[in-house]
Amino acid sequence: MAKVLVTGGAGFIGSNLTEALLRAGHLVRVFDNFSTGKKENLIFDEAYPFLEVMEGDLGDFIACQRATEGIEYVFHQAALPSVQRSVEDPMGSNEANIVGTLHILIAARDAGAKRVIYAASSSAYGDTPILPKKEEMMPNPLSPYALQKLVGEQYCRLFYQLYGLETVSLRYFNIFGPKQDPNSIYSAVIPRFIDALTSGRPPIIFGDGEQSRDFTYIDNVVYANLLAMNAEKTQGEVINIACGRRVSLNQLLKILQDITGSYLSPVYEEPRKGDVRHSIADIGRAKTLLNYTPVIGIEEGLRKTVEFFRKQGRSSLH
Ligand SMILES: NC(=O)c1ccc[n+]([C@@H]2O[C@H](COP(=O)([O-])OP(=O)(O)OC[C@H]3O[C@@H](n4cnc5c(N)ncnc54)[C@H](O)[C@@H]3O)[C@@H](O)[C@H]2O)c1
Repeated sequence: MAKVLVTGGAGFIGSNLTEALLRAGHLVRVFDNFSTGKKENLIFDEAYPFLEVMEGDLGDFIACQRATEGIEYVFHQAALPSVQRSVEDPMGSNEANIVGTLHILIAARDAGAKRVIYAASSSAYGDTPILPKKEEMMPNPLSPYALQKLVGEQYCRLFYQLYGLETVSLRYFNIFGPKQDPNSIYSAVIPRFIDALTSGRPPIIFGDGEQSRDFTYIDNVVYANLLAMNAEKTQGEVINIACGRRVSLNQLLKILQDITGSYLSPVYEEPRKGDVRHSIADIGRAKTLLNYTPVIGIEEGLRKTVEFFRKQGRSSLH
């Protein structure tokens, strides 16, 4: 049983990770300012006595110190995670994503934490023409968000090299699953598609729909984080976490139409600034260093996600 901190624990990925850590018997402290995360995400089917929720902002260093006090493992998930939002408000996302990450690293170092596991992003690769994306490729961020997440990784590496704080950066590729917010204008494509199809509105595709992504079900990411707690030879490393399969938005919509039985045709709109054309991960390093292989594929993950949103009922989708 370890004492762990999940920053951004009320968000989509953070709350799923929190539940898995609690289930594994760890003492979990969640630190969140509830800007995009929700308190309801921390209500689980089972009651866990070892969950502590601390409301605070990454920009407040004293709050970060309080959050890391007595903590052995930090899962740093908190961020403002939208390409589009960062294009509109580069300063706001910079504060959360870079200054906030630096605060957590300093606080974790000073608190004597064993390891910080950082939620990095595949957006760092940008439009590098070579596929699949390998960690050693030169990054080419196309948005403030992508750049900020890359700076976070570099800080993690530096904190290991300079101060001996163990860090591991997991570069997530388009994660989806239960508790992902379908309602914000910044929402990711899968919850938006499911929301549209199940409520009888045509799904919107930005661009021609032939752009592709390595869509990865949440359980895979949670699994990778648990492996990263104790994996050897991972300190300071950057590791892709994905499925290693590429699906276009048009193909994705087809799969979701078959699952939901709703065959509404999409509306195509202008492509969005800062969006990458194609993305697929090489997951060889994750296999070697973490002994990671994806546990749930895209079709099964999409079925589970649709089932979750259906159970939530229409009221929570609007
Ligand atoms: N979802 C994906 O596909 C994806 C892909 C790559 C990387 N990531 C990274 O994974 C992490 C989690 O993303 P998510 O999709 O769960 O997003 P999310 O918006 O659901 O969760 C982010 C959480 O961080 C909290 N937060 C934001 N700013 C904060 C601040 N200043 N102080 C305290 N808490 C703050 C939010 O309230 C929210 O609970 C992020 O770091 C993101 O960059 C996500």
